[in-house]
Amino acid sequence: MEQANAAFSLSPRYPSTAGCCMAACSYSHQRSTLSHRRDRAWSGRSARSSSSLRHAPSVAGVYAAVATATPPPEPKTKEKDLVFVAGATGKVGSRAVRELIKLGFRVRAGVRSAQRASSLVQSVQQLKLDDATAAASPAEKLEIVECDLEKQPQADIVSAIGNAVIVVCSIGASEKEILDVTGPYRIDYMATNNLVQSATAAKVEHFILVTSLGTNRIGFPAFLLNLFWGVLCWKRRAEEALIASGLSYTIVRPGGMERPTDAFKETHNLVVADEDTYVGGLVSNLQVAEIIACMASNRRAAYCKVVEVVAETTAPLLPMEDLLARIPSKREPPPLAEEELAARKPGSNQTSKADALSPYTA
Ligand SMILES: NC(=O)c1ccc[n+]([C@@H]2O[C@H](COP(=O)([O-])OP(=O)(O)OC[C@H]3O[C@@H](n4cnc5c(N)ncnc54)[C@H](OP(=O)(O)O)[C@@H]3O)[C@@H](O)[C@H]2O)c1
Repeated sequence: MEQANAAFSLSPRYPSTAGCCMAACSYSHQRSTLSHRRDRAWSGRSARSSSSLRHAPSVAGVYAAVATATPPPEPKTKEKDLVFVAGATGKVGSRAVRELIKLGFRVRAGVRSAQRASSLVQSVQQLKLDDATAAASPAEKLEIVECDLEKQPQADIVSAIGNAVIVVCSIGASEKEILDVTGPYRIDYMATNNLVQSATAAKVEHFILVTSLGTNRIGFPAFLLNLFWGVLCWKRRAEEALIASGLSYTIVRPGGMERPTDAFKETHNLVVADEDTYVGGLVSNLQVAEIIACMASNRRAAYCKVVEVVAETTAPLLPMEDLLARIPSKREPPPLAEEELAARKPGSNQTSKADALSPYTA
């Protein structure tokens, strides 16, 4: 397989010597694990990697990591604030990247082509974070990692995931290639399953999978959507693979997202329900991205749940954490760690940010 992952980071700390590429990676000031990550991300280098470097996004501040031929070391410790997002160039995925960064996470954005990630990179650079005192700028919290989940072997996908503690998957067969009868099978099932298996091998702690309303349903209107080469059936197979993997998971099944704009949430509030509740409904890409970020920071509330998501004008505006907490879990959550119990005691002055990034906070 002549493809490999290419990792790019964003940092003003390393001015480019050649206009854009082949400079050092970011997080220099506090990331002692950088060289490990960089090595992993560049394992099995190939013609594709260097070509990607030459054509890396020509966005100011985007620099490529240096290739090495060293095989990737086994990930030793997970980084509690690091999330791998597959489908990061997509409508939901790109918004999820920004929402995660807003909540304090760092993101490894999995993309098939770094060139196509330039608008994602720009949008992250333009983010205004609430926490103006944050040590890292939004751009420093993003790494672009080239990774084709259909074509690359598991070792490359594991490298792309790196030390991420959470994986978000919002890939899908392109509606632009609607004549490709194999699209939903290849992408919605096989590529997603490849990511599930790789996340299992990488020992990630939580996997958030975006599928669709109507997955696991028969009759109207699911059969209409299934006219796209059985897409809902293949999404269900992917859900089953995730559940069978033993990973802690959340499956998000959104309603239709084509028409609602990002302004949809100004008039429509989020409504969530357990699996196989809704047959139809609309929700915006942004609302789905927001609930994905909420799930990443509230893993106990999201633990082993299937969450259907729509938005309605008549629904009350409620905190997403409360909405999530109402959905039944398919598995008993693990016991709380001692420090989490302490943080929950009345009078505890532990910060909400620490809570947000700790596993299984509710
Ligand atoms: N649109 C709706 O109304 C609707 C409703 C319910 C559920 N959904 C589902 O929600 C999910 C996200 O939807 P969306 O609208 O954000 O999709 P989208 O904009 O079409 O994005 C799909 C993403 O998947 C990536 N991708 C495709 N094949 C890949 C591969 N082999 N390896 C790695 N990445 C790959 C694409 O990368 P490239 O940029 O490289 O192509 C793109 O980033 C999809 O599963 C979709 O079916 C959509």
